[in-house]
Formats: sequence, C-alpha cells, structure tokens
Amino acid sequence: MKERLESIKNEALRQIQESDVPEKLNDVRVKYLGKKGELTTVLKGMKDVAAEERPRVGQLVNETRAAIEEMLEETKAKMEAAIRAEKLKNEVIDVTLPSKKNMVGHRHPNTIALEEVERIFVGMGYEVVEGPEIEYDLYNFEKLNIPADHPAKDEQDTFYINKDIVLRTQTSPVQARIMEQGKLPICILSPGRVFRSDEVDATHSPSFHQIEGLVIDKKISFADLKGTLEVFAKELFGEDTKTKFRPHHFPFTEPSAEVDVSCFKCGGKGCRFCKGEGWIEILGCGMVHPHVLEMCGIDPEEYTGFAFGVGLERIALLKYEIDDMRLLYENDIRFLKQF
Ligand code: DAH
Repeated sequence: MKERLESIKNEALRQIQESDVPEKLNDVRVKYLGKKGELTTVLKGMKDVAAEERPRVGQLVNETRAAIEEMLEETKAKMEAAIRAEKLKNEVIDVTLPSKKNMVGHRHPNTIALEEVERIFVGMGYEVVEGPEIEYDLYNFEKLNIPADHPAKDEQDTFYINKDIVLRTQTSPVQARIMEQGKLPICILSPGRVFRSDEVDATHSPSFHQIEGLVIDKKISFADLKGTLEVFAKELFGEDTKTKFRPHHFPFTEPSAEVDVSCFKCGGKGCRFCKGEGWIEILGCGMVHPHVLEMCGIDPEEYTGFAFGVGLERIALLKYEIDDMRLLYENDIRFLKQF
C-alpha cells in the first residue's frame, strides 16, 4: 500500500511538473484527487486493510493528498504569476515614445473668406439667411425678371431636375424668397452653393459659391449701394482700395453695374496680378428692378432697394493670391493649411 501511494504521489507530481497551463493542472487534480480519482479509489479499498493498519494507511493517504495539493497550489500560483508577468510585459506603455499626432484639419480658404465677408456685412446690420440649393425655376429665373425664352436664361448653363426645378444657378433666388415673406425693411446677406453646367478649368467649376446681398427700404438709392460696397471693398482689401462702378446689365436690377476694385497688389498702376489693368472685377450689383419688387409683392412706388452678388471663390482666389480655382476643391491639407 505504501508503495502504491508513493507511486501515485510521484506520478502526480511528475504530471504537475509537466503541466504548462492551468487547465492541465486541473486535469491532474481531477485524475488524482477527484471523486473518481486514484486516491479516492485507494480510500475505498481501506476496508480490505487490516484494522490495526488503517490509521497508518489513512495517515499516509492524507499525507499523499496534502503533498499533491500543495504541489498543485504552488505550481498554480507560479503559473498565474508567470501569466500576469507576460501580460504586463506585452501591455507595457513606453511613456518616452513620441505621441501620435492628431491630425486636425484646417479652415478652407472659402470658409475664411466667407467669414470675413459675413463679419463686414453683419457689422453693417445685415442678417445672414440661407436658401435651398435645389430651387424652382420660378425663383431662380422667373421672379428675377428672367422669363422663359429670355436670352439671359441662356447665359447660365443650368442643371435641370425637371422643367420646373433646377440646381440654383445663382444665390439671387433667395432675394425673391425673402421679399415674398413681406417683412420690411430687408437687409440680408445670403451665401451658398450654386451650380452651372460648366467644364472644370482654372476659373470654372460646375459647383461654386456666391454671396447675395439685398437691402429694401424706403428711400434706398444708388448712393447707398455705392457707399456700402465702398466700405466692403476697403474692409476686405485695405483702406486705400478704390472702387469703380461700370454700367452693366442684369435682368433683375436697373440700373446695373459691375464693380472693380483698384488692384491691391500694385495700388492701381498695373501689374501681373491685375493683368496690367490696375483694376480687378469683384461683383455685380444694381437697384432692384421695379418689376421684381412687384412680382414679389412689394410696392415699387413706396420701396426701393439694391442688390449685389459676389463670387466667393473669386474673393478667396484674389485675397490669397491663388491662381487656379481647382486647388480649392482638391482638399489637399498641404495646400489648405497655408491660409
Ligand atoms: N446673380 C448674378 C450672377 O450670378 C450676380 C448678381 C448680379 C447678383 C447683380 C445680384 C445683382 O444681386 O444685383 O451673375
């Protein structure tokens, strides 16, 4: 019996030593100490042992069990410590490593220019409002004095959704929408995206941005328009900037003008930047056509007003001296972060 117990013990200890994972230790425990384990089997055989031998054999069995248990516990503790150490080693944080840089984007030159224009006009009491990019032909053309079959309609290469709905070709339809609401006086600025069926090149894009301005009140005159745009030009391009109003035609304004500013690079002498002209064209404007006022429910005998439309990209390209519009749409961070 003694030898049997001895060999059980040695066999168990050997298997414990050979175990490399806690699961195997558990198998050993079941095999030797479990209900159907080898030691239990020995205990069950005690009835065959002579009565006077039993206490000694019992003690031997207990000692064997204790030895195996102790070894199991010890090995388990060692194994768990090793596993924890390995885990800690794998999860170690090297605080001396350079940190991962969070790539923060950069405001787009269009956005910077827009915020600058908004700041100037909000400072003069304008409210910024937005209109839909998908617009009725009625607002985009008809109510702006551009009836069907009018040649002016041809000038804007329009994306039609159907015969009544277009991707707006200009921000001017917002004028009609605001006037129709009938709340007077009006003093608004309306920036937004517009669309034209144009090929992409250095100065064209099928989608670009405009900023529309509209002021309607009693006794608004061309002098107000001139004064407003003069302040705008000086704020945007510098105190010495001069403005020039050239007669032009827009269907929704009468009279209409295009506005040039003196070149802020050469001060008007003529340089490469202004193509030797000394002047740079920046926007279109005029006094709101009486017919437009009427169509939008405003009495032209009582109210007058002015409107203007600026190309946002044009402002951004000029202000930041960018010579190709396509750069604005490529979203290359190396380009964008220069502004
Ligand atoms: N909508 C015109 C365009 O896209 C720009 C414009 C000119 C707007 C004169 C106006 C204006 O409000 O009065 O070419």
